[in-house]
Amino acid sequence: MPPRIENQRRTESAAVEDYLEQISHLIEEKGYARVVDIAEKLGVSQASVTNMVRRLDASGLVVYEKYRGTVLTEEGRRIGASVRQRHQVLTRLLGHFGLDAATVYADVEGMEHHVSRPTLKVLRILTEELESNPELLTRLKALAAAEREPV
Ligand code: CO
Repeated sequence: MPPRIENQRRTESAAVEDYLEQISHLIEEKGYARVVDIAEKLGVSQASVTNMVRRLDASGLVVYEKYRGTVLTEEGRRIGASVRQRHQVLTRLLGHFGLDAATVYADVEGMEHHVSRPTLKVLRILTEELESNPELLTRLKALAAAEREPV
């Protein structure tokens, strides 16, 4: 398939994952996700949120009720939890290297949509190993600092 179409698909699925990720956070915090809160979390308009949430409802990923807020279906919960797990592992790994927090967040928000389960497993094991081996972490940080490009 032409790359352009593939990119559009990827963008679409990344957007769906971002919604499910944030709706999952809101439900954990409040029990439901309101359009206004989703809009704030994602930095988009309430009109865009309403539009997307209706589509997610039609796809069976959320149940949208205008006045009671949105909740996740079983499938929506599964995808939301998976994105959050990818986000968490990537953030934990990168968090050990003294990178700027905003850079880590922006990079993780991109990578979380593309990392496969087998790769995530490797990164999780690597993170756990680094955490149990401070000397290795210190050595890697020193190497990274020595290679840091001038600002
Ligand atoms: Co994320």
